[in-house]
Amino acid sequence: MANSSIALIYGTDTNNTEEVGHKIAKQWEELGEQVDLFNIKDIELGQLEQYSMLILGIPTWDFGGIQSDWEDIGDDLANLTLEDTVIALYGLGDQFGYGDYFVDAMGWLYEKLLPTGATFIGQWSTEGYEFEASRACVHNKEHFIGLAIDEDQQFELTDQRIEQWVIQLYAERAVEAA
Ligand SMILES: Cc1cc2nc3c(=O)[nH]c(=O)nc-3n(C[C@H](O)[C@H](O)[C@H](O)COP(=O)(O)O)c2cc1C
Repeated sequence: MANSSIALIYGTDTNNTEEVGHKIAKQWEELGEQVDLFNIKDIELGQLEQYSMLILGIPTWDFGGIQSDWEDIGDDLANLTLEDTVIALYGLGDQFGYGDYFVDAMGWLYEKLLPTGATFIGQWSTEGYEFEASRACVHNKEHFIGLAIDEDQQFELTDQRIEQWVIQLYAERAVEAA
């Protein structure tokens, strides 16, 4: 059985997405909620169905490419039963280095999870970012489908973005549960 109702699952090549995951979990703990943290390569996919909320983190690599551990299980995601699950996504990327593909993999993950019937929360404004294109954009480029974090170019904004996003998630989840 799961220890808490929220799981945060990340994939990472150089640990940035893991570190951001720890910060997000710590922020939830400050709001009084425990978060189970996993690397996607270490879990059975079925474990995801045990939680009422999933926070999923993914970095983008190699011009819109998918972090390899997520890519390995990508086709299995659609088979999960997540109708009663709330999902929030976060993506790591580099907006100046890869401005035509900024946090693309977060958009890929969203597309892969759409057939599961999950409810998505945590859209994030694109204000304050500079990029040309992103597969993770919705609403005519006004929002990302989840939180975009740029540890390469805007690391000084990471903590405040996380704090604000977690408060937003807390409120949005309450609306979904009502
Ligand atoms: C070779 C290389 C390719 C990258 N490609 C992209 C990309 O296409 N889009 C993007 O937004 N970021 C890209 N990035 C930036 C990474 O996503 C960013 O450094 C991220 O924080 C890495 O996360 P991780 O440490 O969890 O693997 C790339 C970085 C490198 C070094």
